[in-house]
Amino acid sequence: MYLKVINFIKDLYGTPDFVPLSVPKFIGNEKKYLEECIDSTYVSSVGPFVDRFEKDMAAYTGAARAVVCVNGTNALHMALMLAGVERNDEVLTQALSFIATCNAIAYIGALPVFLDVDDSTMGLSPDAVKAWLARNGELRNGQCYDKATGRRIKACVPMHTFGHPVRIEELAAVCAEWHIELVEDAAESVGSRYKGTHTGLFGKIGVLSFNGNKTITTGGGGMLLFRDEELGARAKHLTTQAKIPHRWEFRHDSIGYNYRMPNINAALGCAQLEHLDEYIADKRATAAAYAEYFSNIDGIRFFTEPEGAFSNYWLNAVILPDHDRQQLFLQETNDNGVMTRPIWEIMNRLPMFAHCRHDSLENTVRFADRVVNIPSSVRCL
Ligand SMILES: Cc1ncc(COP(=O)(O)O)c(C=O)c1O
Repeated sequence: MYLKVINFIKDLYGTPDFVPLSVPKFIGNEKKYLEECIDSTYVSSVGPFVDRFEKDMAAYTGAARAVVCVNGTNALHMALMLAGVERNDEVLTQALSFIATCNAIAYIGALPVFLDVDDSTMGLSPDAVKAWLARNGELRNGQCYDKATGRRIKACVPMHTFGHPVRIEELAAVCAEWHIELVEDAAESVGSRYKGTHTGLFGKIGVLSFNGNKTITTGGGGMLLFRDEELGARAKHLTTQAKIPHRWEFRHDSIGYNYRMPNINAALGCAQLEHLDEYIADKRATAAAYAEYFSNIDGIRFFTEPEGAFSNYWLNAVILPDHDRQQLFLQETNDNGVMTRPIWEIMNRLPMFAHCRHDSLENTVRFADRVVNIPSSVRCL
């Protein structure tokens, strides 16, 4: 049934036997910078590439401060701690996300509350958040509480799904109204902007991932983005074992974390960042080719960037008419050398999060049953 689509994707990627979903591209100074690390012996927690990558990324995104971490998951954990989330707090988020968003909430002993996503963004809906808070929220002593559970609602974590920015200004406004901290899971959206501002810079803290499948990679890696330089400095301290700087003494002033990205990974990041805008231009051209092709295919909708957004199109997505056709599409493409994947299982269908509170999740369930990611790697460079 989907043979024509399979042939189109293979042609787009130069007719290989197998088209992967999303693989990294190394076309610049990666080897040179890695050699510098090895020649200097600075491969681990000391070395100049960490500072350089942080400075370069802060300049690229417009953040007051950027702090690198070992991966996006522990960057999220750190972000939630810095936002003041504590055991038994509730955190408003989307059920339609990669597991790391929820896991980071669970590491603290807090509870995710799953609210619906927008049809236009696939990310957390400000309308759903507003409706939930109007029904369940209560302000007491400058803090927001859930009337039904008595728990504090401390933070809200939207995720920019597949690189497409959510309606982040509206989310920021509703969070401000209810005294809730906004932490953006921008793991998938490096280079994506909303009305010209980089994702991750609308709330208290933003988190990026540089995992191997992302738009740029450091092997494994993550980053915290801050508008507040002082909070960024606090993050730097906590992600480096809370060690008080001294040439030879070991003194620590609080419980810290070994979350700092090694120099060798940061070296890769510096080289990758030099080509990020080219990668995004290439990925956007691929998305435009898909959009045009699928506009003539009955029963398949190609997901495009929402209004006001500039998306990195990290992973391209199509929406099939129903669950059966989603499964058929997955079967036929994967049987014929085109790697595709369904969107994630929604979080409250997983045993560890099945007990969490949620709203109707109407759009969430519709997307979960129908969305498939199609090949999205950089193509022409
Ligand atoms: C939405 C989302 N959040 C968090 C992460 C976690 O990042 P990492 O794999 O670097 O830990 C990822 C990706 O892997 C992600 O897609």
